Amino acid sequence: MVGIDHPGRGMLMRSRWWAAAAAGLSLTLVASGCGNGEDSDAQVEVFSWWTGGGEEAGLNALIEVFEEENEGVEFVNAAVAGGSGTNAQAVLEGRLQSQDPPDSFQGHAGASLQDYIEAGYLAPLDDFFDEQGLHDALPEQLVDQISYEDSVYSVPVNIHRSNVLWFNPSVLEEAGVDEAPETLEDLVQALEAVDSETDAIPMAVGAQWTVDHLLESILLGSLGPDAYNALWEPGADWNTPEVTEALEIFEEVMSHTQEESAAEDWQEASRRVFEGEAAFNIMGDWAAGYFDELEAVPEEDYDWAPSPGTDGTYMWLSDSFTLPEGAPHEEQALAWLELVAGQEGQDVFNPLKGSIPAREDADPENYADSPYLEAALQEWQDGPELAGSFWHGVTVGNRWKNDIDTAVGLYLQNQDLDELNTALHEAAQTE
Ligand code: GAL
Repeated sequence: MVGIDHPGRGMLMRSRWWAAAAAGLSLTLVASGCGNGEDSDAQVEVFSWWTGGGEEAGLNALIEVFEEENEGVEFVNAAVAGGSGTNAQAVLEGRLQSQDPPDSFQGHAGASLQDYIEAGYLAPLDDFFDEQGLHDALPEQLVDQISYEDSVYSVPVNIHRSNVLWFNPSVLEEAGVDEAPETLEDLVQALEAVDSETDAIPMAVGAQWTVDHLLESILLGSLGPDAYNALWEPGADWNTPEVTEALEIFEEVMSHTQEESAAEDWQEASRRVFEGEAAFNIMGDWAAGYFDELEAVPEEDYDWAPSPGTDGTYMWLSDSFTLPEGAPHEEQALAWLELVAGQEGQDVFNPLKGSIPAREDADPENYADSPYLEAALQEWQDGPELAGSFWHGVTVGNRWKNDIDTAVGLYLQNQDLDELNTALHEAAQTE
């Protein structure tokens, strides 16, 4: 078991981190085009949060194909900036509640989509699935995650992996760390070595959500896939020695993060790894798309491994596009869904986005230029253990997710690990 060596130091680092968060967080709306209010039949308004490095490139590639194939239809990109949709989801909720839906929006397969379905916001897509042959093209388990009472409600465009440890090989070498840490104990030792032997930040984080993201990988790495998956059953017991141990490791890792970064998003943490300002970052594989955009050389400028303790498990999530009830331009929305559902659309989008296709008939050749994606696709096709990402909507709906985020935010202020544990337990009791 990993001990807690420097609580005082960690506390100082985290309180500065929090101060920066309070000062720096801003909400940027990147709604472009005409959007609300303007009425034109020949348009489609698509809502997402893909505005930053790596993500925007994937979306833009899809938009280009859409415009070629749908001449005369104006594409209205209603993306709202902010990694993992922290800002976008709040804006979307407001629009859905006031019956002002976009023509299609990006959601996550799993529990978060169920929230929208149960609220009556989404139209079923059964006929579309039949016409497009999607029941054959998509893995059955994934179709289960987008279904409700025997109907399907969204179109998955990809599979992302959440549990990836990205690292800078030169910084590890300087620290005398010979290989990527395989266990959480190895990770803590490596963080300590980076701390004492180099000037680099041992573990880069960004805005608060990246800490939620880090937490899920540490829970998985410490508990293993079965116990991790069991945490998300409503009423699950989080008051266990195993969860407490995982949280102690989380605290230890947090004590090796940088002082001020909350005004930054995930791209900034990835960039720090690429530039050697940081040794490690635990982030989803959208980082692979961003590293490509930075023209970073894989396995030289940066490298990767499963986040410690999670080898063999794919902590997955899937971006999935919807047809909202009352979408103003349904015909064009269906044309958009046809593009994201198809092999061509998925193979244009995913290599840039840093994800593998949701469809099972993808051509691996399209992913062979990226050593990361080639390996990820192979591992996915080999049938790894699966764990759902909580932060990216698979295992819990919005209420539970927000409760965890609130608890993590409080922890970042007060460093009270017992309180965090209690709040996580309580969040699990009220589903
Ligand atoms: C996830 C989303 C990914 C990526 C990431 C960072 O929630 O599924 O596609 O956008 O956030 O923004």
